[in-house]
Amino acid sequence: MVQNDFLWGGALAAHQFEGGWNSDGKGPSVIDVITAGAHGKPRVIMDEIKEEVFYPNHEAIDFYHRYKEDIALFAEMGLKCLRTSIAWARIFPMGDEEEPNEEGLAFYDRVFDELLKHGIEPVITLSHFEMPLHLAKKYGGFRNRKVIDYFEKFAETVFERYNGKVKYWMTFNEINNQMDTKNPLFLWTNSGVTVAEGENPREVMYQVAHHELVASAKAVIAGKKINPDFQIGCMISHVPIYPYSCDPEDIMAAEEAMHERFFFADVHVRGNYPRYALKELERNGFVLDISEDDLDVLKKGTVDYVGFSYYMSTVVKAGTENQAKDIVNGGLANSVSNPYLEVSDWDWAIDPVGLRYSLNRLYDRYQLPLFIVENGFGAIDRLEEDGSIHDEARMAYLSAHIEALKKAVDYDGVELLGYTPWGIIDLVSFTTGEMKKRYGMIYVDRDNEGNGSMKRYKKDSFEWYKKVIQSNGDDI
Ligand code: BG6
Repeated sequence: MVQNDFLWGGALAAHQFEGGWNSDGKGPSVIDVITAGAHGKPRVIMDEIKEEVFYPNHEAIDFYHRYKEDIALFAEMGLKCLRTSIAWARIFPMGDEEEPNEEGLAFYDRVFDELLKHGIEPVITLSHFEMPLHLAKKYGGFRNRKVIDYFEKFAETVFERYNGKVKYWMTFNEINNQMDTKNPLFLWTNSGVTVAEGENPREVMYQVAHHELVASAKAVIAGKKINPDFQIGCMISHVPIYPYSCDPEDIMAAEEAMHERFFFADVHVRGNYPRYALKELERNGFVLDISEDDLDVLKKGTVDYVGFSYYMSTVVKAGTENQAKDIVNGGLANSVSNPYLEVSDWDWAIDPVGLRYSLNRLYDRYQLPLFIVENGFGAIDRLEEDGSIHDEARMAYLSAHIEALKKAVDYDGVELLGYTPWGIIDLVSFTTGEMKKRYGMIYVDRDNEGNGSMKRYKKDSFEWYKKVIQSNGDDI
């Protein structure tokens, strides 16, 4: 049994569901120049917005104009919290203005007021893969120190404005995605950065990461000054990496690969650089621009809790580096498939036990409250003639994961603040830009090409999740 004030909720991100990409003064963000892709077909990051190209995030599912109707559905489901993000470019359209865009600020006032009216607590990420495009183009994103100040100003502006409405914050969504420098999508969406020919991507990434970690710490410091009761967390993508076998070489391969997962959270939580990272910098002769003042900021701006997403686990096998046919996780050269697990249609391994394992590992390492701010099953759903959607596989996935988190709380004693399944209402997929990869308990009539009425329908999982919440996780 989880505690009575456990935050059962749902998770979303501004660019994936709001739409209104250029409404009421909003500027273009780094996500607005990305095309749609598909499983195995990467999304393309364009230089500018072209009229003839379809950008799935521009309209998304049009929450911008339908927020009342959608929030009423969330309330009917009984959500206690909604995790979403603020589109930075709604507040500072270019990113480097003196004054914020009042219409953008007013939009989130309306949304948060509507949530609170229904007893739903907003849990807010400052930047979920969004930075004003201008900051990426003019300054090179987080390559440039100036962007730290622009982020700090944005953070202060929204902390001040929504003080009293929002208590739980997170700084950067899945900040550790950019560890995978092979896929340009990650450095671009995390940090507004592209790697030029001849540059060492890993060296670029570490410098960018440093600036972003300092920006996060500065936001924490600023937030605590504005309201010491704010709870400000980090947010990492957690995909545990298992050794393929008990061969000690496999064990060490997994241990080393886990550094990729832990690096960002280690700094966010401990306020200093882990030694394995310093050793890597030294080995490779990477000299970063890190000032004494930065180190002091990192120390002072540590987080209150660790938010993380969990969808799947992965496996590494020593000695298989770069054997292309074996690689199942692009970021790890020695990753292989797990013979014990089924995968989704998008090849994500389904592993509820991995969630309990992750909760234990993260809690042992950090000794801070944890918050599962994303978990879910991306699948194709069929809208029946009578308007029903029977999404048994999703309910099976979610209930197995809830069972696992309960065990971690009840049996292992992990401190867990809440659980917000991803995409509580169908939205645009991040990695592929598709609509057909659906996570929601509410179906949205819209397809990959942007056709459809946008009408909302309740899936079978809607009533199911309502009961889960009502019973505080007993009835799954
Ligand atoms: C996480 C992100 O990576 O996983 C979300 O924080 C994303 O933005 C989610 O949508 C699921 O990934 P995808 O690619 O299936 O949408």
